[in-house]
Amino acid sequence: MSQVTELQQRALAEIEASGDLRALDELRVRYLGKKGEVTAQLKALGAMEPEQRKAFGQAVNALRDRLNQAISERRAALEAQALKQKLLSERVDVTLPGRGEHRGGLHPVTMAMERAIAIFTKLGFDVATGPEVEDDHYNFEALNFPPHHPARAMHDTFYFGDGRLLRTHTSPVQIRVMERGEPPFRIIAPGKVFRSDSDQTHTPMFNQIEGLLIGEGVSMADLKGVLHTFVNAFFERSLAMRFRPSYFPFTEPSAEVDIGWEKTGGEPGWLEILGCGMVHPNVLRACGVDPEQNTGYAFGMGVERLAMLRYGVSDIRQFFENDLEFLRQFN
Ligand code: DAH
Repeated sequence: MSQVTELQQRALAEIEASGDLRALDELRVRYLGKKGEVTAQLKALGAMEPEQRKAFGQAVNALRDRLNQAISERRAALEAQALKQKLLSERVDVTLPGRGEHRGGLHPVTMAMERAIAIFTKLGFDVATGPEVEDDHYNFEALNFPPHHPARAMHDTFYFGDGRLLRTHTSPVQIRVMERGEPPFRIIAPGKVFRSDSDQTHTPMFNQIEGLLIGEGVSMADLKGVLHTFVNAFFERSLAMRFRPSYFPFTEPSAEVDIGWEKTGGEPGWLEILGCGMVHPNVLRACGVDPEQNTGYAFGMGVERLAMLRYGVSDIRQFFENDLEFLRQFN
């Protein structure tokens, strides 16, 4: 019996002194495992006299329960201690400054596009859209380009070979809008257009904004007023503007519009920024609009060109190279 008492004192002291979960588990195996010291005591019972066996058996069972309980308590204490240490070592200081995430920005062409749309919207124009894949009728025929007309050659069209084509301008949206409804019409049509062309000022895909206003008594003076208001608002300064006679099949008369712009040396000069004119009666008729009753104007401008002027970009291809150094300047 004194052996049991001695065993208990030693085991309890060791359990209490164990420094981590692994050491504790080794103690459990040493005392209570299959080949453990307490288990050995239980096995020894078989060889004892019955009355001795009873008292000794109770004592060893009590010892086993006592050790089990001590181990559980010690394990709980060690686990709590480990958790506390882990929480301390993994603590996050939420007051530290951030790591400097890069803020994204809009593409300069998107900014120019949104800027132009906002100005025309304030002037009362609605935004209309049309498909990028068009056919000869909408892209040319209804816009008064007769078959084999030389003006078609100016457009460097991408054809699919089945009669469809990538629209070369946003003017076909005019046709779709007029076909669908009744005058008056007052829309702008922003969107992508495509031409087989590439150099410092041309890319195979670029963006245009088409404008169309049709109603009773609309004149070229209205066109001038709207366009001058637009360019001054877009460039945020008072610019000189001039109309130069030009030719487009879908307008008569037609004009190209220049704005007063300093040349690279600082000398005053003119820069062409858009085409426009009074919508040709043939175009109105093709859409079921009576040219005796309604007149109107149309205009079309390149958005990349506007962006180049506003942001001082000299090569249009830079907009499509995805060079982050270039793009970040506009954030
Ligand atoms: N569609 C012409 C082009 O892409 C631009 C244009 C010129 C549009 C005159 C018009 C216009 O509506 O009246 O070159």
